[in-house]
Amino acid sequence: MGIIYNETKKDLPSEQLHKLFISVGWSDGSETSDMIKNYNIPFINSTLVISAWENEHLIGAVRVLSDKMFRSIIYDFVVLPEFQNKGIGKELLKRCIEHFPNSEWLVQTTEKTSSYYEKNGFKVIKDVFLNIPCKLFSQT
Ligand SMILES: CC(C)(COP(=O)(O)OP(=O)(O)OC[C@H]1O[C@@H](n2cnc3c(N)ncnc32)[C@H](O)[C@@H]1OP(=O)(O)O)[C@@H](O)C(=O)NCCC(=O)NCCS
Repeated sequence: MGIIYNETKKDLPSEQLHKLFISVGWSDGSETSDMIKNYNIPFINSTLVISAWENEHLIGAVRVLSDKMFRSIIYDFVVLPEFQNKGIGKELLKRCIEHFPNSEWLVQTTEKTSSYYEKNGFKVIKDVFLNIPCKLFSQT
């Protein structure tokens, strides 16, 4: 399996990114063409983006917001289902952490996925998180 990792490209192809998000249920595919066109903006505006490719095919991605010193937070960590369980996710996370190895690393996830991060060196913390929800996501 010839997987290539890219650690510099932030402008991931929006249509492929959209398909990646659909494949793991993060999108129901109902976005307008304008929304799809802008799909990579959060990636372009992130501190670090690491992507995994098989030839020209985007098969995994992760993005990080970081002050490059003390605090780094992971978003949109995803591997295409047919490529899961092959160590691609682990490699994406490892490469992120190598960029800012002394930083605290944070990720917000579900109970179900918590054990994945724990296997990759994260610890559950009992801090209280507060938020103002994103107005761009539909509220249920
Ligand atoms: C989470 C994700 C990125 C992991 O990528 P991956 O390339 O499949 O992961 P790896 O191959 O490095 O690791 C596979 C191992 O993690 C385990 N694993 C995979 N997904 C898991 C999950 N959601 N919870 C717990 N363990 C998980 C596998 O069982 C496997 O275990 P093993 O090494 O003991 O066999 C991928 O499953 C994915 O895209 N999931 C949907 C999106 C998602 O939930 N992202 C995280 C959001 S916070």
